Amino acid sequence: MARIVKNPFIIGHPARGVDLADRVDEVARIQKALADTSGRLLVYGERRLGKSSVVGEAAVQARIAKRPVVVVDLAKVTSVEGAAQAILDGVNKEMGRRWKNLASSLVARFRSSRVQFGAQPDLAGGAPTVTFSIVPSAEAEKAPGTLLTETLDAVETELGARDAELGLVLDEFQRLAQWVPELDWLLKGVFDSHRRVAYVLSGSERSVIDAMIDSKRTGGLYKMVDVMPVGPIPADLFAPWIVDRAASTGVAFDLDVACAVIAVAGPRTRDIVQLARRVWDATHMAGHATVSDVAAGMDDLTREQSAHHQATWHRLKSDAHRRMLTLIAANPAIELTGTATLRRYRLGAKSTVNRILKSLITDEHVVAVSGGHNVDDPFFQRWIEVNTFKEFGFATPALTDRAQAATK
Ligand SMILES: Nc1ncnc2c1ncn2[C@@H]1O[C@H](COP(=O)(O)OP(=O)(O)O)[C@@H](O)[C@H]1O
Ligand SMILES: [Mg+2]
Repeated sequence: MARIVKNPFIIGHPARGVDLADRVDEVARIQKALADTSGRLLVYGERRLGKSSVVGEAAVQARIAKRPVVVVDLAKVTSVEGAAQAILDGVNKEMGRRWKNLASSLVARFRSSRVQFGAQPDLAGGAPTVTFSIVPSAEAEKAPGTLLTETLDAVETELGARDAELGLVLDEFQRLAQWVPELDWLLKGVFDSHRRVAYVLSGSERSVIDAMIDSKRTGGLYKMVDVMPVGPIPADLFAPWIVDRAASTGVAFDLDVACAVIAVAGPRTRDIVQLARRVWDATHMAGHATVSDVAAGMDDLTREQSAHHQATWHRLKSDAHRRMLTLIAANPAIELTGTATLRRYRLGAKSTVNRILKSLITDEHVVAVSGGHNVDDPFFQRWIEVNTFKEFGFATPALTDRAQAATK
C-alpha cells in the first residue's frame, strides 16, 4: 500500500514550529517585547509576508516561558464592539482557567452596563466556552473610542488587582482606525497609563500606519513604539528550507528548484509556500521535481484561480484601470505619465492617471516598489500576462525562462 505522506508546505493558517522558515530574530524580538510591560512594539510589513505567523510563534514561545499572551485577530472583526469582544474573549480564554470569576469581574469594570457574557456551546463538541457580547448604544456610536479604552483599561485594572502581567498582541490593529478616529492618540493614552500589559501591534496598511508613526505633530504613535519591519525571507535562507522540507517527505527538490519557486512566486512568503505546495503535489509520486515543474505549477495554480482573477478584473472601476494594470504587469518600471504613454494607451490626463494609480494601490492591486510598481498578487500578474497582453501586442513571457534565470 502506498505510504500516505502529507504535503510539508502548509498554507491557510499561520505557520508554526517546523512549518516556520527562518524568522528566528523576529520571533525572539517579539517574545522579548511580550515580556516587557514598559515597551511597545509595532510589527510592520506587507500582507502575506508572515506577520501573523511570527507573532503567533512568539506567543507560543512566550507561553512556554510561562508568560501569558493573548493574540487578538482584528482582521476578521467588523466593528469596535467586535474588537472589544475579541479582546475580552481572548483574555478570558488565556486567564479564565487560572483566575476565578474573571468574566464577571471584567464586566463589572465597565462603567456602562453594555457588556455581558454567557456560555456558548463549543462547535467542536467540547466544553461550552464563555463569550462576551456588547450591546451597541447610541451614546457609544458617537464615541466609539470610549469602548476600546474602557476594554483595555478593564484588562489593565484586572491585572493590577491580581498582581499579574500579560502580553497583548493586536494583529491588524490599524483596522481599528476605521471605527475609532484618532486611534493613534487613543493608543498613546493607553500606552502612557498602562503598566501591566506588554503591547505588540501588528499591521499592514502602510499609508494608515505611516501617518501614525511618522510625524511628530500629527502622528500619535510618533516615538511611542519601536518599529520592527517584517520583510521577505532572504532567498539564501528560504531556498535551503524548501529543500529540507521536501526532503523530509522523501521528495527531492534541489536548490535550483527551490530558487525557481522563489523567483516565480515573488517576494511574499505565502505565495512562495503556495507554489512550493503545488509543485510538491505534482511531483511527490515521482519523488523529484525539476525547474519545469515549477513553471507548470505556477500556470496550473493561475488557471485554477482564473474565475477569481476574472472577477477581480471585471470589478476594476474602468478600462483605464485595466489598461494601467496591464502596463504595470508588462513593465514595472514604466513611466505611466509620460506623454507618449498617455497618448498611445489612451489613459487620459496626467492627473487621471495619478488618481487611478492611487486607487489601484489603495485597493491592493498594485504595490509601489523601488523603481516602479508591481502587481501585488503574482498569480494575478500571471493571469494578466496570459489573458490581456495580446491586445497590447506584448508577448506572454515564458515562465520556464523566469524559473531558469533563477538557477543561473
Ligand atoms: N516563516 C514562514 N515559513 C513558512 N511559511 C510561512 C512563514 N510565514 C508565513 N508563511 C505562510 O504564509 C501564510 C501567510 O502568512 P501570515 O503569517 O498569515 O502573513 P501576514 O500576517 O503577514 O499576512 C501562512 O499561512 C503560511 O502558510
Ligand atoms: Mg496576518
